[in-house]
Amino acid sequence: MSSVSTSTPGLRQENFRFRCIACGDLSDAASQDFRCGHCGDLLEITYPTWKETKPDAAKLKSTWQKRRLSSSPVDLSGVWRYRDLLPALDDEQQVITLREGNTPLYELPRCARITDVPRLFAKHQGMNPTGSFKDAGMTVAATFARRAGFRWVACASTGNTSASMAAYAARGGMRSLVLVPEGKISWSKLSQALDYGAVTCQLRTDFDGCLKLLQELVRKAPVYQLNSINPFRLEGQKTLAIELLEQLDWQVPDHIIVPGGNLGNSSAIGKALLEMRELKLISRLPKLSVIQAEGANALVRTLREAGGKRLISVPAETRATAIRIGNPASWKKAAHVLETTGGACEQVSEFEIAQAKAEIGAEGIGCEPASAVTLAGLKKLVKQGFVKRDETVVLVLTGNLLKDPEFTIGFHRGDMSGSIQEAEAAAPLRHPPIVLDASLDAVMRTLERFN
Ligand code: F0G
Repeated sequence: MSSVSTSTPGLRQENFRFRCIACGDLSDAASQDFRCGHCGDLLEITYPTWKETKPDAAKLKSTWQKRRLSSSPVDLSGVWRYRDLLPALDDEQQVITLREGNTPLYELPRCARITDVPRLFAKHQGMNPTGSFKDAGMTVAATFARRAGFRWVACASTGNTSASMAAYAARGGMRSLVLVPEGKISWSKLSQALDYGAVTCQLRTDFDGCLKLLQELVRKAPVYQLNSINPFRLEGQKTLAIELLEQLDWQVPDHIIVPGGNLGNSSAIGKALLEMRELKLISRLPKLSVIQAEGANALVRTLREAGGKRLISVPAETRATAIRIGNPASWKKAAHVLETTGGACEQVSEFEIAQAKAEIGAEGIGCEPASAVTLAGLKKLVKQGFVKRDETVVLVLTGNLLKDPEFTIGFHRGDMSGSIQEAEAAAPLRHPPIVLDASLDAVMRTLERFN
C-alpha cells in the first residue's frame, strides 16, 4: 500500500506530523486509510514547530488582514489566507482553489426574536463555491492529494462531500470516484457530481455502507480518500472558526452551534478553537455544541448512554439526508471537543428541523435541512438554560438553501405529514405556490387576499 508522505527528500522539512488521537504515536507518513499503524485509530495533524517558535498572535492578525488587499490566488482564498496555521506547501502555485471560504457572518434578527437570544449570528458556509462547508477542507486535501502524486480521489458521501470533491478534482486535473447511497441524496448534490465529471456510483446501501466500502477500496487501489477521516480536510475546515473570530474582531462568542453527522466539522472547529487559544489569538473558548437529528443521534446516545466511552451506532433515518449517518467516524474527536469546550449535544425532531429551516429562510438567507438543526437545537438549549439570553451565539449553517429543493417544496406544499399541532405551527411559515389562470383579475384578487 502506498502512503501519503509528509517529508519530501531533498526539499525542506515539513511543518507538520501525523499524531494518533488514541495512542499519541507520531509519524511523518500516513497510510491511505489514515489510521494509526499501531492501534488503528484516527490521525490528526500536529505542528511540532509551534513548540519552539510559536507564531506571534499580533503578527498573524495583521498578516491575515494585509492579505485581504492582495490579488494572488492563495490570498483570495478564505482558507489559504490563514496558511500559517495549515500544512505548508513547497510552492504556493500547487494550491487548488476555487476562492473558497470568505463566507458571510449574518445577523439573524427574526430568529433572535423567536429564540429570545438577541445576539444571534449565522456563519453561512453554504456560500462556498459548491454550496457547502466541504470546500474549505477540500481545497487543502485535494491539494495534498495531487502533491502526493495521486491521479484518483474518492469519497463516500451524503452528497455535499461528493459535489465538493468532484469540483476540486476537476480543477486540479484529477479523476474522482463518488460512492453515494442510492435514492438517499438530493438531486441537486447528485447533479453537481455529474456535471463536475465524477464517476458516480449509487450504491444500494446507506452512507455508512458506502464509507465502509471506501475504506476497503483505498487499501487495494491507488485512490486517495477525501472523506473527513483524511486529516487534511479538517485542517482546511478549521479556517471557518479563524475567519469567524476575525469577523467578530476577535471577540469570542459564548456559543458556537454546529450540526453533527460524521462529526468531522465539529472536530475541525474544536481543533481550531484549541489552537487559537494555544497561540493566544483568543483568551477563552466558546462552548461548541453539536446538534443531531433524532433519527441519526449516534453521538447523543454515545454521550448519554455510554458516557462517551464507546460509540453507540444507530440505523440512521432522517429527511435531513446530509446527516443521515449512524456510525460517525470522528465521534472520538467530537466527544473530546465537547468535553474540552464544555459544549452540549442535543437532538431535534423532523418537524423541529423543518420549522427552523423555514424560519432561517424567512430571514432572506435560507439553508439546507441539516444546517437548520442548529436553530432547532438552540431553542432547546435556551429552554434548558444552557444558553443564556444575554450570550452571543453563532450558528454554523453548513449548506445552501438550493442544495435540497425537494425538502423545501415539500414543506411549503404541506406534503410533510405531521400532527395537527405541527400543521398549525407550520401554517404561518408555509408559502405554497398558487396556480392561477393567466388573468390580471386573478393575480389582483390574490394580491388583495394577502394584503
Ligand atoms: N451539514 C451538511 C450540509 C452536511 O453535508 C454534513 C455532512 C453535515 C452538516 C455534517 O457534518 O459530517 O462533518 O459532522 N455531510 C457529509 C457529506 C457526510 O458526505 O456530504 P459532519
